[in-house]
Amino acid sequence: MKKQLIALIFALVPGVALAAPSGAHLESANIDLTDKASLQDGARTFANYCMGCHSAQYQRYERVATDLDIPPEIMLENLVFPEGVLIGEHMEIGMRQADSKVWFGAAPPDLTNVARVRGEDWLYTYLKTFYEDPSRPYGVNNEVFPNVGMPNVLEELQGRQVIGCKGMPVTDEDGNIQRDTLTGETVKDEKCDVLTIVEGTGSQSEEEFDTTVRNLVNFLAYSADPIKLERHRIGTYVLLYLAFFFVFAYLLKREYWKDVH
Ligand code: HEC
Repeated sequence: MKKQLIALIFALVPGVALAAPSGAHLESANIDLTDKASLQDGARTFANYCMGCHSAQYQRYERVATDLDIPPEIMLENLVFPEGVLIGEHMEIGMRQADSKVWFGAAPPDLTNVARVRGEDWLYTYLKTFYEDPSRPYGVNNEVFPNVGMPNVLEELQGRQVIGCKGMPVTDEDGNIQRDTLTGETVKDEKCDVLTIVEGTGSQSEEEFDTTVRNLVNFLAYSADPIKLERHRIGTYVLLYLAFFFVFAYLLKREYWKDVH
């Protein structure tokens, strides 16, 4: 009994550590690793908006191109910077860690495995919850990463996000959105002290921006575990093979034991 208890405690400890509350509510990223178009879009956003500061140095451009069905010439033209970098190279960047530490107060970490470390929902919420905060060096803060050193690099797409008042959909106890029975419109209630976008300041609508971030997180999740889909595919064949083999193993067993009894 004692032994089992100890085993149980050890089994639970990592879970407890990871589930430690971060203070903010995380939104579900709801990604789909089989959606190639989403992964391609995410790779493009990553190359254009993140690789100025972050590398994905355990990943090669060529592998990404092959896995996501991106033709090599398109990959080289649109996703590989600066010119002269070869498609077989790792996704490294030119910025030196020592320099970036001085500029941002913290060096931008490599992002190849960040989805495993932080989780997809955390990343999704993180990228969506930068808001203006004049007390910070770059004028922005973040809901899930307070006092973050990273500037809000997606602001031109999302627009300026501030803490203010916003009409929020009203939900019942089960989380269903309430609609007006006559007009069918969502019932909204003005809430203050919440994140809200200053209208007309971003090039994407809120829905479009959600999709951009979802695709980007999808790409980061793929990057942290590129073999995942392949593993599932092989796993299915292995199980099918075992089921098939079982029939013959069983018949053979019957044949061997026939004369013993
Ligand atoms: C201008 C430079 C810069 C750009 C561009 C940039 N980041 Fe960052 N990022 C940083 C810095 C600096 C940090 C470290 C912040 C800290 O520790 O306070 C960081 C931290 C992060 C973290 C937290 C990592 C961790 O686990 O602590 C994530 C995730 C992240 N960035 C994702 C992105 C993504 C995705 C993009 C592209 C949309 C991006 N960053 C673009 C500078 C940048």
